[in-house]
Amino acid sequence: MTASGDMERAVDALRGVAGSSPRYAIVLGSGLGGLIEQVADPIEVPFKEVPGLPDTTVSGHSGRFVFGTLAGAPVVLLAGRLHAYEGHELDQLVAPIRILTRLGVDTVLLTNASGSIDTRLRAGDIVLVDDQINLTFGSPLAGPVLEDEHRFPDMSAPFDPGLQEMVRSVAEKLRIRLFRGTYAGMPGPGYETAAEVRMLASLGADMVGMSTVLEVIAARASGMRVAALSLVTNRATGLSAEVLSHDEVLAVGAEAGGRMIELVTGIAKELGRVTALERSD
Ligand code: HPA
Repeated sequence: MTASGDMERAVDALRGVAGSSPRYAIVLGSGLGGLIEQVADPIEVPFKEVPGLPDTTVSGHSGRFVFGTLAGAPVVLLAGRLHAYEGHELDQLVAPIRILTRLGVDTVLLTNASGSIDTRLRAGDIVLVDDQINLTFGSPLAGPVLEDEHRFPDMSAPFDPGLQEMVRSVAEKLRIRLFRGTYAGMPGPGYETAAEVRMLASLGADMVGMSTVLEVIAARASGMRVAALSLVTNRATGLSAEVLSHDEVLAVGAEAGGRMIELVTGIAKELGRVTALERSD
């Protein structure tokens, strides 16, 4: 989606279907599709029905917007996301995020599946992302500056400290152990070699995956509040005897996804509470 006309048509189309405009968005990573079942009165719009958006091609990632209420909070879920390895241009890949901003979303929670590099992390652990390393060596912001976006967004605190503190406290209340770490975003789609994983460790990465970093950059360019949760589905290459497969990532995601869904639902509940308080002010 390069033409701004496409963006306007997409936003108008979604506004027409969704009715109200939610402030909160949640991007679902591999295996977290189960969250959709928790959404009350869902209105689903497949990416392919939105002007200018391509369909997703990865199993476990059927692309659609889901508008509705999650634990009392008005939300829009991005179920399935676009990845660079599907061959999308980077600006197209973040088009759903840019559409969300224009729909009035000001807070986005990104979720993903990752391989762990920090050896304390195991499959099933949930990590609140503290920082990121964009190893795709591309930026979705290259090209003309879009209306409402910064040319040079500050990235000293890509993840909102207030939102992170809220996530931490929700996890504590739910007795869900939350780790903290730095996420390295690789282009994929091949999994890393053991040598690349050693390189990532020396760069300071705790987890590795193939998504999220470009979405964070696009979201920050328009000033959205961002938090990201990573579900560890495996140890990164070379750190266990396992051979990696996407099916296994999906299987672990589905198995361990229950606690992640519980956490994300708890976060939505808290966001809904804050919205209700603001409304009663
Ligand atoms: N590497 C990259 N992406 C991933 C991994 C991994 O080990 N696990 C889940 N997504």
